[in-house]
Amino acid sequence: MEMTHNKSLPETATISPSDYVIVGGTGDLALRKIFPALFYRYIDGQINDQFRLFAASRKVPSIEEFASKLRDFCADAIAQAQDGETRFAEFISIIHLIAIDIVSGEGGEVLKEHLNQKASETRPVIFYLAISPSLFGKACQSFDRLGLVTSSARLVVEKPLGRDAQSARAINDELRAVFDERAIYRIDHYLGKETVQNLMALRFANTIFESQWNNTFIDNIQITVAESVGLEGRASYYDNYGALRDMVQNHLMQLVCLVAMEPPASFTADQVRDEKLRVLRALRPIHEDTLKDHLVIGQYGAGSIDGEQTASYAEELGQESNTDTFVALKLYIENWRWAGVPFYIRTGKRMAVRASEIIVTFKKRSHDIFASANGAENNEANRLVIRLQPQEGLQLQLISKQPGPGGMRLFPSQLNLSFDDTFKTRLPDAYERLLMDVARGNQTLFMRHDEVIAAWDFIDPIISAAHFIAPEIYESGSYGPESQKSLFDDETQNWHNPEGA
Ligand code: BG6
Repeated sequence: MEMTHNKSLPETATISPSDYVIVGGTGDLALRKIFPALFYRYIDGQINDQFRLFAASRKVPSIEEFASKLRDFCADAIAQAQDGETRFAEFISIIHLIAIDIVSGEGGEVLKEHLNQKASETRPVIFYLAISPSLFGKACQSFDRLGLVTSSARLVVEKPLGRDAQSARAINDELRAVFDERAIYRIDHYLGKETVQNLMALRFANTIFESQWNNTFIDNIQITVAESVGLEGRASYYDNYGALRDMVQNHLMQLVCLVAMEPPASFTADQVRDEKLRVLRALRPIHEDTLKDHLVIGQYGAGSIDGEQTASYAEELGQESNTDTFVALKLYIENWRWAGVPFYIRTGKRMAVRASEIIVTFKKRSHDIFASANGAENNEANRLVIRLQPQEGLQLQLISKQPGPGGMRLFPSQLNLSFDDTFKTRLPDAYERLLMDVARGNQTLFMRHDEVIAAWDFIDPIISAAHFIAPEIYESGSYGPESQKSLFDDETQNWHNPEGA
């Protein structure tokens, strides 16, 4: 089979021609994320006209209408690419719109005919369910009835994978009734982010950190995923989920796993996922009686962001609600490496900036030889800041001597690695990487069912206990509720507020 290979791409980026069937192909996720990501891959030559993309939906517009809608979401890519308009028109020509009722399977014969034309054991057929999880089971049954679930078929699904462990198991049973675990790709888009993958490179491709990466040298770890957006028209979903379910159970838990996991024996799907699972299973459970010391929940009130007035959550929603739009959580991993090291994690909407960071704070020096020379001592800790988005990069805070006379006057200075300046290239969106990995059959950056369940097993008791707490209102444009400070074990610890772009 002829493989795609664009000379500007590394050999390892080569993938074999595949068929992508995007169910919900004219919906929001497809237009905002999936097709633009595929378009970028098309511009780069990683996919080409040997690939076929099917946008499947109950009702489909004309291809012209579809192209004109999609164009808005591809505007940046078109502007940046050489011959952007022509490339976009070529890209549209590999898209087929298919009207299919995914519940009854009506219309599926047309899709089947298309797929059969090129069917072979080596040509992956990827079914991406960009629809409500309540329809996942029915969609899988329809594919099965139509005879589309061949040995080369793969299934892609995305959160919300349940509201708790029980409903996540029920969804999984529906998928597994038709697809084998090896063919199921559960997306957590945070795993596709370049800097999140870089976290693994930082830890497992360098030797200098590994000897320090434990409770002997690390004081605490913080993860902040701050968003400045509010409800974004997703009220019915969000008010039913809240930040614990929407962000913590998946994205933040995955980040904790990558920071805390043991080095896997190799960078292969099951080795990596086994190690992440061990972290999740080592989390100290949080129950009703320990909740107060470990959890702060908040909800945004009115305020202003970037000089613009913003409404409160209740105003946006149109009614009062107890849904959490902010969560700060202190957790412990009960294993040899991490015993006693608090992980402080938080996420919130309508915060001052959109910025995500992981901050590793090392222990302070045990004895300060400069104290007397210094007068006012400066015993700040070394800190490694891993900036996930935007302005991706690494910063290592070291203590240096101030130049000039006046004795050993110490001050914190920074070693900065900005990925923008270093690589001078656009960082691909998470979906670009993940969509190519499905075609390649690489599950390393996808969640296995047992990971999803282990994360719910940790979060479920917290949600049940938190049910009785009213979220603390915080001002939009702030860094969350005041009381989040109460989580710290030690008064020298504090939240590190990320700056915006
Ligand atoms: C999604 C959540 O999974 O992640 C959203 O449902 C959230 O509520 C989004 O806004 C954040 O993703 P990113 O990539 O913008 O950090």
